[in-house]
Amino acid sequence: MAELKQQQSKQKIKSEQLILFNDEKNHSLTFALRNKFNMKYKRILLKLSGEALMGEKQFGIDNNRLVQYAYDIKSIVERKVEVAIVIGGGNIFRGLQAVEGGMDRVQGDYMGMLATVINSMALQSALEQLGVYTRLQSAIKMEAICEPFIRRKAVRHLEKGRVVIFGAGTGNPYFTTDTAASLRAIEIEADVILKGTRVDGIYTADPEKVKDASRFDRLTFTEVIQRDLKVMDMTAFTLCRENNLRIIVFDMNKPGNLTRIVEGAQVGTLVDV
Ligand code: GTP
Repeated sequence: MAELKQQQSKQKIKSEQLILFNDEKNHSLTFALRNKFNMKYKRILLKLSGEALMGEKQFGIDNNRLVQYAYDIKSIVERKVEVAIVIGGGNIFRGLQAVEGGMDRVQGDYMGMLATVINSMALQSALEQLGVYTRLQSAIKMEAICEPFIRRKAVRHLEKGRVVIFGAGTGNPYFTTDTAASLRAIEIEADVILKGTRVDGIYTADPEKVKDASRFDRLTFTEVIQRDLKVMDMTAFTLCRENNLRIIVFDMNKPGNLTRIVEGAQVGTLVDV
């Protein structure tokens, strides 16, 4: 009996070693492939707007837009870029508008966080339909639906080539999903935060309102503050600035833009030191 147990335990150790070996093999393969693709960014955090997901609709999720996003994300995953995503919830629920209507701010913010989980689940599903491996982690525990946010686990998923979607913002009221994106990007040590919007960069004024507004190719963090440009809310922006995390604002609705950015092309507006 004791001998059998010893044999079983030896076998277990062997199979664990094999898993470890295969993992390491996969890792070096990933690195080799990355070198082959020679991408400018190895690990990115993509911030998607919930409102952009509406497409032409007035509310909810436009399936065509969702599929376009999923194809664009798949394309950079195939180039061995590690992808983490934070998505807003404005297409389903806007906390601030609810507050204007008389709702309690904290309650409204939590409802907004739940909206981001719905969008995250939709994106996860769209990616999986294209054969992309994903993991969804939520800042608010919802064990029946997704994993809780655990930084080390998120990094491990990324290293294994899985797309990690972070739902429920930071899990705290009074913070935006831009802040969640900056925070998660810093936590997972992303090379860059890619803020996908429906405009193609940062302008001198809102291009949807001011006709002759001009676009910047590049700005420093200080210039953004001096010119009072609305790139992100102050908390999110300050996090990026203090941690030297570069931001690229670009048009996510144009297919292929995401790939061009990770390949190093000048797309949108770059903000760095
Ligand atoms: P590795 O062990 O690093 O390969 O990661 P893994 O994600 O494959 O392993 P794990 O056993 O943690 O997860 C297996 C599956 O269960 C994945 O689809 C996870 O997203 C899912 N999962 C893990 N934890 C939770 C949880 O708390 N809730 C839910 N709903 N799913 C979970």
